[in-house]
Amino acid sequence: MKTIRLSIIGFGAVGQGIANALLQKQEYLESAGLNLKVVAISDSHGACIDLDGVDLEAAIERKKESGSIATSGVMSLEVIRDVDHELVVEVTPTNIDNGEPGLTYMLEAFRHGRHVVTSNKGPLALKYSQLCDEAKKNAVHFRYEATVGGAMPILNLAQDALAGNKIIAIEGILNGTCNYILSRMTEEGLSYQHVLGEAQELGYAETDPTYDVEGIDSACKLVILANSIFGMDVTYNDVEVTGITRITPEALTLAGDEGMVIKLIGEVKDGENGIIKVSPKLVPEQHPLAVGGTLNVALLKTDMAGPVCVTGKGAGSMETASAILSDIIAICKNSH
Ligand code: HSE
Repeated sequence: MKTIRLSIIGFGAVGQGIANALLQKQEYLESAGLNLKVVAISDSHGACIDLDGVDLEAAIERKKESGSIATSGVMSLEVIRDVDHELVVEVTPTNIDNGEPGLTYMLEAFRHGRHVVTSNKGPLALKYSQLCDEAKKNAVHFRYEATVGGAMPILNLAQDALAGNKIIAIEGILNGTCNYILSRMTEEGLSYQHVLGEAQELGYAETDPTYDVEGIDSACKLVILANSIFGMDVTYNDVEVTGITRITPEALTLAGDEGMVIKLIGEVKDGENGIIKVSPKLVPEQHPLAVGGTLNVALLKTDMAGPVCVTGKGAGSMETASAILSDIIAICKNSH
C-alpha cells in the first residue's frame, strides 16, 4: 500500500467535496493500493492537524456547525511549511487581482518539496510560468485539471489522450454559472437575478459571482488552456472579455425564434490569426456547443483526430472533487 499524506488548504464547497470524495472512495483507493491520508485541513480561521489522519466526517460536521475547521490557530502557510506531508491540495477562493493567497501557498508548497493539486484559477491565470518553473525546479508535480471545466477532463484529454496531435483551436463554454443562468432564463423565462441567486445557493458561483457573469472566470480558464495546451505565454490581461450581464430575456427570445441560443463562448487559437476571447455568441440549437444547465463543453480542432468534443459538469462540489482526485491519483502513480 502506497501512503501519500495530504493537506487540504481551503475548506469551502470544493475542500469539503474532496473530503467527501475521499470518504466515499476509500474502498476503491485501497483496492488501487493507495492510502490517501489527510494530515491537515485549514481554512481562513486556522487548521486541524492530525498526523494519524484527520477524521474527515467530524471535520465536515464541525465546518457545518461552527463555520470553521479550526481546532488550532495554526494558519495555512504554517501547515504548508511545517506539517510533514507530500501533497498540498490548494482550494482557496480565486483572486484575479494578485492571485493571493493561493499563489503564495503553491509557491511555498513547491519550495518545501510538496506536490500541488489545485482548482484555484487566479494564480495560474496570472503567474502560470512562475508556478511551473518553481514546480520543475523542486522536482515536484503540479496538476490543475479542476481549474478548467470542473469535471470535464479537458487538460488530460488534450495532453494524454490526444498526445501527438496538434491542437489548432479550442472553443467552448467554460463557466457553469453563466450557462446555468442563460439556460434557465431561456427555458423557464426566469429573471437574471433570480437564477444568479439559485446558482449561488447551489454552490456553482464563485465567492464573488461577478467573476462568473463578467466572463472573468471563463477568461482565466482560457488562459490556462492557452498556456498549458498551446504553450502560449499569456495572462488574464491578454484576453478580450465580454460577460453576460447585458443579455436581456428579449434577446434570448429573439435568438430562440431563429433556432439559436445565446452562449458565453471562449475561443483560443495560436499563430498568425491568433485569438483569445470570451464573448456571448449565437449558437444553433442543434450545435454540439449548445449544451444546457451547468454543463461545460469544449470543441478541440486537431490535426490528426479532427474535431473532438468533450462535455461535463463545469461546477459543483463533487464534480470539482472528481478532477482533483484524478490528479491526486495520477501523482501517486507517477511519483516514487
Ligand atoms: N464558478 C465556476 C463556474 C466554478 O460556474 O463554472 C467552476 O470553475
